[in-house]
Amino acid sequence: MPSSDTSKSTFALTTPLYYVNDLPHIGSAYTTMAADVIARFERLRGKSVLLITGTDEHGQKIQRTAESNGRSPQSFCDEIAAGFDTLWQKLNIQYDRFSRTTSPRHEAIVKEFFYRVWDKGDIYMGQQKGWYCVSCEEFKEERDLLEGHHCPLHPNKEAEWRDEQNYFFRLSKYQSQLEALYQERSDFIQPESRRNEVLNFVSQGLQDFSISRVNLDWGFPVPVDPKHTIYVWFDALLGYVTALLDPESEPTLENALSKWWPIDLHLIGKDILRFHAVYWPAMMMSAGLPISGRIFGHGFLTKDGKKMGKTLGNTLDPVELVNLYGADAIRYYFLKEIEFGQDGDFNETRFINTVNADLANDLGNLLNRTLTMVKKYCKGVLDCSGEDIGADNPLKSIGEGMGDRVAGAYESLAFSTACNDIFTLIRACNKFIDDQAPWTLYKQNQQQAVEQVLYAVLESVRLAAYLLSPIVPTISSDIYQQLGFSINFNDKNPINDPLLFKSHAVWGTLKAKQAFGDPKPVFAKLNPPASGSS
Ligand code: MSP
Repeated sequence: MPSSDTSKSTFALTTPLYYVNDLPHIGSAYTTMAADVIARFERLRGKSVLLITGTDEHGQKIQRTAESNGRSPQSFCDEIAAGFDTLWQKLNIQYDRFSRTTSPRHEAIVKEFFYRVWDKGDIYMGQQKGWYCVSCEEFKEERDLLEGHHCPLHPNKEAEWRDEQNYFFRLSKYQSQLEALYQERSDFIQPESRRNEVLNFVSQGLQDFSISRVNLDWGFPVPVDPKHTIYVWFDALLGYVTALLDPESEPTLENALSKWWPIDLHLIGKDILRFHAVYWPAMMMSAGLPISGRIFGHGFLTKDGKKMGKTLGNTLDPVELVNLYGADAIRYYFLKEIEFGQDGDFNETRFINTVNADLANDLGNLLNRTLTMVKKYCKGVLDCSGEDIGADNPLKSIGEGMGDRVAGAYESLAFSTACNDIFTLIRACNKFIDDQAPWTLYKQNQQQAVEQVLYAVLESVRLAAYLLSPIVPTISSDIYQQLGFSINFNDKNPINDPLLFKSHAVWGTLKAKQAFGDPKPVFAKLNPPASGSS
């Protein structure tokens, strides 16, 4: 039973629904950029895509944060949710749905889902005793806490002792069904290391978990007992379902599940793996829903090799970063420099060196100098096409098959592999120009050879720009325009066409006598940080 069906014409994917206790941090930006890249890639190859993001607004953490800011929870949530949207615009994220868990439509979905699970006999009242980390919104095993009952993920916060009556979800009942799911669909949890983590956790035996809270107002009441409030995670995971509703349709499960379900991919960070890879599929099983496609848990980001945090004073503000450097540079760095799934680091000097070397020098200068040579040596027009280039041309041989290779890399979320493959071609172009020296060929009156060299380079740059467009859509659009195409990769409609993908993701697409635009730098070199970070 393959979970990622590449032949389907629709593709739905989610980012986590972010807590609104604070403005977005670089971790939320990282997941969202990756999700946007996949969404753009799937659109590029003609799929109908639904990219879901949003905010997780209930629970004690949010309630307390709003209180400590002297605000009502709803107005606090409204303000922070707007901050997420602002960042997504700045980072050029093309989301399709923004799911807010405080919306009335969401309450209708949660209620209906709750009754399905209730009617199945999977919810019962019990006594919950344990240590609760409000920052994680999760009960912790005593053995997993640091000294003084501090949470390892929030070492400055103490977990709180709770002993209260809660409603429980019968997770234990789904132990063998979950194990069967992981066996049948070996790609359900990715990467492999995360899958092993989950298999190990589940093999120790699953315990039921509480899905309601007492003494908490900020959330939906439990439909069968309004003195209890639904646990924030039970509510939040269902935000993915609510997001599937068309804006004008009635908020029912049937409507929500009619077009996009099951969701193809949930992108998350490794800290929320258990909720997505264990609790969530069990909830779906209980409600009789087909199970989502894949759960991919990416790694954590550090800054200059250190864990980021307010207490350490080394947070990385994504808004500041994008204001300073622009969306494409940031998107490129995080996706190229960090192997998706592994932990990764942000260092400003490395960031600047990487984007200057790859985007400004290797790619940008290459296009600029080649187009300038076309003007100078060929009156701006190349008479040859891909067919005139011999099979022994090194660029043609790297470029052929690259579309398939890079598509495979995107499919498996190997962004870094995709970038490295594309830049192998770009670096080969730079070497090819230096080796072939078209300026000498020109002097020797070898006009046809000059044109063939320049064609091979420009066609390679075109292919690279096309395949890079999910990551650096604005740079790719500028390159495409200079190469004489009226394609803007930031417009969803013209690019969302399988025929376009077929003809543009291959080497040899540039036509003879293509009308090129004027050469202009596509990426201005970034200056090193003033204070000189390490
Ligand atoms: N609200 C829940 C998710 C509910 S989904 C139905 C939540 N929100 S969160 O805002 O705390 O975290 C959102 C995401 O940010 C998580 O995927 C988490 O892994 C990610 N990150 C938080 N810090 C991070 C880094 N330092 N690096 C990379 N990602 C990190 O959890």
